[in-house]
Amino acid sequence: MQAPVAHLTFPPEAVYQLSDSDSGLEAVIVLHSTRFGPAAGGCRVWRYENRQAMNHDALRLAEGMAYKNVMAELPLGGGKSVINLPIGDFDRSKLFRAFGRKIQELKGQYVTAEDVGTSVRDMETIHTETPFVAGLTPKGDLPGGDPSPWTALGVFKSMQTAARYKFGSDLAGLSVAVQGLGHVGSALCELLHQAGARLIVAETQATLAANVASKFGAEVVSPSAILSAQCDVFAPCAMGAVLTSENIAALKARVVCGAANNILATGEAGDILAERDVLYAPDYVVNAGGIINVCAEYFGWSVSEVNGRVVASGERLAQVFRHAEETGLAPHRAADALARGKLALGSRATVAAA
Ligand code: NAI
Repeated sequence: MQAPVAHLTFPPEAVYQLSDSDSGLEAVIVLHSTRFGPAAGGCRVWRYENRQAMNHDALRLAEGMAYKNVMAELPLGGGKSVINLPIGDFDRSKLFRAFGRKIQELKGQYVTAEDVGTSVRDMETIHTETPFVAGLTPKGDLPGGDPSPWTALGVFKSMQTAARYKFGSDLAGLSVAVQGLGHVGSALCELLHQAGARLIVAETQATLAANVASKFGAEVVSPSAILSAQCDVFAPCAMGAVLTSENIAALKARVVCGAANNILATGEAGDILAERDVLYAPDYVVNAGGIINVCAEYFGWSVSEVNGRVVASGERLAQVFRHAEETGLAPHRAADALARGKLALGSRATVAAA
């Protein structure tokens, strides 16, 4: 393990470069902040061209987790780990056991869970080497397992706040364009349907789109048409960087509120949204439901505690909108300012740990 490799907007506390020739592990763990508790954030498995690209992704994601966790008022710091997907055949169990031993060496400074490319099974493998892991198979009525329904609920409550803010109404009768109908997107569609919203959806896997169309009466459009769909709200629930300075002109929605991490390709894209009077709900404020569930599992909180904290996503978003109004900042910059202020000043979470 080595010292930090790079600095971002708000520098990380530590960056650990990991390798293990026996298992083929090539990975990095970034502790962005441990001020409020162990640096928590999922483990991503992805194929990177080189270590520099892997580090860059991990640093960016860890900073995002620090902001997400502090804004969600969790007793957690922010961190992330990334494993470079080995080329060719490899022993997955051996790889995650080696990774688990590296996490154990950090003695609880970093807590991992699922992210893109990892599963409950991988977390169970890590758990054979270290207790500093969540996203395990749920035990009885306790929180755990797939966090997506909680993420969807947080996005839904946030969208209600954004609709009230922008249109002065609830979601009934509004049209929402949902991009991506995976774990979060499909659960969000169910909540929106129950709330009386009209759905327009796009998904690269046709069967998922057909399923949502038949269950919730959604109109299906092609993935290339969803961004410019005639709608009130655009909800990106697929991949990041969907809104760029170039493609925002095509957007018809007056509100953007979705689960995807890093929806804005750049900060400038957020500025352009604000100039065009499109209300942007900062992603890491609205999509914290999953990490709230992970936090609850790790600390042994109840499901009702999770529910209360996820439902409060809407109120936390309202605070960001108020700060944006008071300061004249665009919402994404207002959220960053609030998060950095909390991290820098060390202001304690206002919701006490259970
Ligand atoms: P998922 O992988 O289950 O679903 C994503 C879906 O998007 C897939 O069905 C995929 O086929 C579809 N898709 C990919 N490219 C597309 C495109 N161009 N147009 C339309 N559909 C496309 O992922 P999940 O778990 O639903 O997460 C969705 C997003 O929310 C991701 O960006 C994830 O990082 C983020 N997120 C998820 C959380 C969770 O609890 N699952 C927590 C916080 C953020």
